[in-house]
Amino acid sequence: MERSLSLFQLLDPEVLANPYPLYHRLRSHDPVHWDPFLHAWVVTRYADVVTVLHRFSADRTPTPEQLAAMGLAKLTPVAQVMVRQMLFMDAPAHTRLRLLAAHAFTPRRVAVLRESIEEVTNSLIDTVIPKGRLDVIADLANPLPAIVTAKMLGVPTSDHEQLKAWSADFAEILGNFQHNPEGADRVLRSTEDLTKYFRSAIREQERRPRPGLIHSLMTSEVDSDRLSEDEVVANCIITMVGGQETTTNLIGNGVLTLLRHPSELKRLRDDLSLIPSAVEELLRYESPSQHTARLAPDDVELGGKRISKRQAVIAVMGAANRDPERFSDADRLDITRPDNRHLAFGWAAHFCFGAPLARIEGQVAFETLVRRLPELRLEPGPLVWRSNLGLRGLTALPVAFGE
Ligand code: HEM
Repeated sequence: MERSLSLFQLLDPEVLANPYPLYHRLRSHDPVHWDPFLHAWVVTRYADVVTVLHRFSADRTPTPEQLAAMGLAKLTPVAQVMVRQMLFMDAPAHTRLRLLAAHAFTPRRVAVLRESIEEVTNSLIDTVIPKGRLDVIADLANPLPAIVTAKMLGVPTSDHEQLKAWSADFAEILGNFQHNPEGADRVLRSTEDLTKYFRSAIREQERRPRPGLIHSLMTSEVDSDRLSEDEVVANCIITMVGGQETTTNLIGNGVLTLLRHPSELKRLRDDLSLIPSAVEELLRYESPSQHTARLAPDDVELGGKRISKRQAVIAVMGAANRDPERFSDADRLDITRPDNRHLAFGWAAHFCFGAPLARIEGQVAFETLVRRLPELRLEPGPLVWRSNLGLRGLTALPVAFGE
């Protein structure tokens, strides 16, 4: 079996730094590839990723027995939270939850957040201006989504560092497919703490409602149907994690990509009306969430391969977004790329619930950086990527600006 095609190679820092040659080999040699090391199918062509996201089952939370077999029985309470999260459900349970959540998270609410996103971004940049340098991750890409998430939920923004720490722990199991029994204790503790945190926020909001997602999920009603408290808690957790890790990566990966493409950065500086289209291209080019998983709903054929019912399938959006059959000159960054229907936010029923918010955060962050920090340049030194294989992002991104 060809080991060189296994996604496990992402554990090699060099492959992690640039996974695109590996994706390219997979797409051209074996686009629907059985990975014996992962015990899953790996799908890398745009058209096939769309099929998987459209047709395959998202209901994939491991049962207590499966967790025990992996030596992770202690994660059972985490799985009990996951089964109530929209990300891990199929219709009709998913449709119900998503509808109730959509009532709670309307375009009007997102528009209200834009103003505070601009305010927070500007105040984060104010603090670095006198220094002439910043770490894009620590100074902007981590705190901005954490503060915005607190505002979106309706909890004190002073909790943002705690929210960030919990989110990073929970993301370990969302983004990774390698088993990490040592990390399990931390994930378990964080999930318990998060559950307590949101339960007490719910109690607090019963007495004193605050505008935000927690309160609107508590009160959202469609045809006399409401979410249970466990459902509110579970979906606050997924929204809190989904809202932070990915947006951090969009900002960090996006700044790095622009710095590596000075002529595109100059085009953007010269015409800020290109910001929305640049954000879409940065999402395509260095997708913050590189892959997701599904299970085959039945015995099915895909790309000439026979996939058995309930076998795991990894849909690699990061590879589909560089598929030359879908995108012309797919490895080239073009901030004015037309017809850029990338898969960075997924596809179909589970298409990112927070995409409108993520887009605003990205647009405001890039516009503010480009407008306020002239002569932005990378500081010398090695770049270290997060060990999370699915949530692609840098651990730090030191840059300097000004003369
Ligand atoms: C650049 C930022 C973001 C990216 C790249 C991103 C990416 C994604 C992707 C790929 C999915 C689909 C996963 C799948 O089908 O398995 C998804 C779903 C989701 N995202 Fe995002 N996301 C981002 C920001 C956000 C934000 C800001 C929020 C919160 C407001 C959020 C909340 C969610 C939720 C709750 C789901 C589950 C939707 C469902 O299952 O119906 N995301 N996201």
